[in-house]
Amino acid sequence: MSGAAALNGAAPAGVSAAAFRATMRRHAAGVVVVTSSSGGVANGMTATAVASVTADPPTVLIVVNRSSQSYGLIRRGGAFALNFLSESQQEVASYFAGSEPKSFDAAPHRPGVRDCPLLEGCAAHLECLVEDRHEVGSHAIFIGRVVAASAGDAAPLAYFEAGFHGLKAL
Ligand SMILES: Cc1cc2nc3c(=O)[nH]c(=O)nc-3n(C[C@H](O)[C@H](O)[C@H](O)COP(=O)(O)O)c2cc1C
Repeated sequence: MSGAAALNGAAPAGVSAAAFRATMRRHAAGVVVVTSSSGGVANGMTATAVASVTADPPTVLIVVNRSSQSYGLIRRGGAFALNFLSESQQEVASYFAGSEPKSFDAAPHRPGVRDCPLLEGCAAHLECLVEDRHEVGSHAIFIGRVVAASAGDAAPLAYFEAGFHGLKAL
């Protein structure tokens, strides 16, 4: 169905950035720390713009602000790791959402693909090599081929309405 048909023939109206953000606040998403590494420098960035693309071949996408430290590191390193946070890791999420230089000294971890840190205590991990990049306004979409995956049984951390939440089965 075309966009025009979906709108019953009405011309698509513009949507302000404020209206877009207010709407997206209602979208519940899992919280991930995207880690990267290049030239001996490692970083982590809290993110919710993460999605599965296809299982064949295993592929994900992430959306990264081009003004972030992570953007350059992911470009140079050609890799990233996804640390899917557990509901007990709210402090980890807040720490890696900061813009100041971050340290992994207080965050137990082990090296993953191309030295991207894998944080302990996560619900799951994916390790990815960058296959493609698309620049869209202020952000870039990185397409990552998954080269390693591991999952535990910890409950995941979610984010919506500008706050962290746990999930309970209905
Ligand atoms: C819950 C949450 C989700 C976020 N999701 C993203 C995201 O998907 N992409 C992004 O570029 N920034 C996202 N951010 C903002 C980054 O975490 C923040 O800009 C961070 O300072 C970037 O770190 P860096 O400059 O060290 O890479 C999110 C922040 C929070 C709190």
